[in-house]
Amino acid sequence: MAQYEDKLLDHAYDGIEEYNNPLPPWWVYLFVITIIWGGLYMFYFHIADVGPGSTDEYTTEVRDYQTKFASTIAAEAGVNWNTPNFEIVSDKAQLAMAKDLFAKNCVACHLAQGQGAIGPNLTDKYWIHGGGINNIAKTIALGVPEKGMITWKNSLKKTEILALASYIISLQGTSPPNPKPPQGDLFEEKK
Ligand code: HEC
Repeated sequence: MAQYEDKLLDHAYDGIEEYNNPLPPWWVYLFVITIIWGGLYMFYFHIADVGPGSTDEYTTEVRDYQTKFASTIAAEAGVNWNTPNFEIVSDKAQLAMAKDLFAKNCVACHLAQGQGAIGPNLTDKYWIHGGGINNIAKTIALGVPEKGMITWKNSLKKTEILALASYIISLQGTSPPNPKPPQGDLFEEKK
């Protein structure tokens, strides 16, 4: 490796002499390549603006998401909770899912068997906001924020709300222990 042999350069500053110690070629090439790479990068992403920046990538991802879930988003947005025309869900798997959702989200105020605490008893025939699938689904979806009942339509899907309302209807007449006294009016489903 002749090029790495110690070779004194033919100059001296105040008696200090210097060996010729060139950097290894691979290092020099790498260094030059990074400079070229940096220049190309800057040109591609910032000067010519050809490559997508992080903002562009974000916008693209959001757009892809919206395209992919367009029908779901439209269906959810199009739910009319005010004049609904829903059917009670009787599918066992859906009701089991609703039971889980109820345990996770609702028992804090309505208690484990729906007998009521902060929120009203959901097992009797008396309803503040009306019984039956349509009224119950509407109350769950829109909530009664001023009374402490959460608006669930922002965190639960339509199918989940309908399953929950159907699950609550299935609790009718279960007479759990220590029920909260009835509130609201007697509700009878119009046939
Ligand atoms: C933070 C406490 C709280 C939580 C959690 C809560 N609720 Fe309520 N809920 C209430 C209160 C308070 C009311 C009574 C509102 C009123 O007085 O108008 C109520 C009312 C209701 C009613 C109407 C009862 C009627 O008599 O008309 C239904 C149905 C209901 N909740 C279902 C649910 C479901 C389902 C969940 C879970 C997804 C849930 N609630 C979670 C507090 C809560």
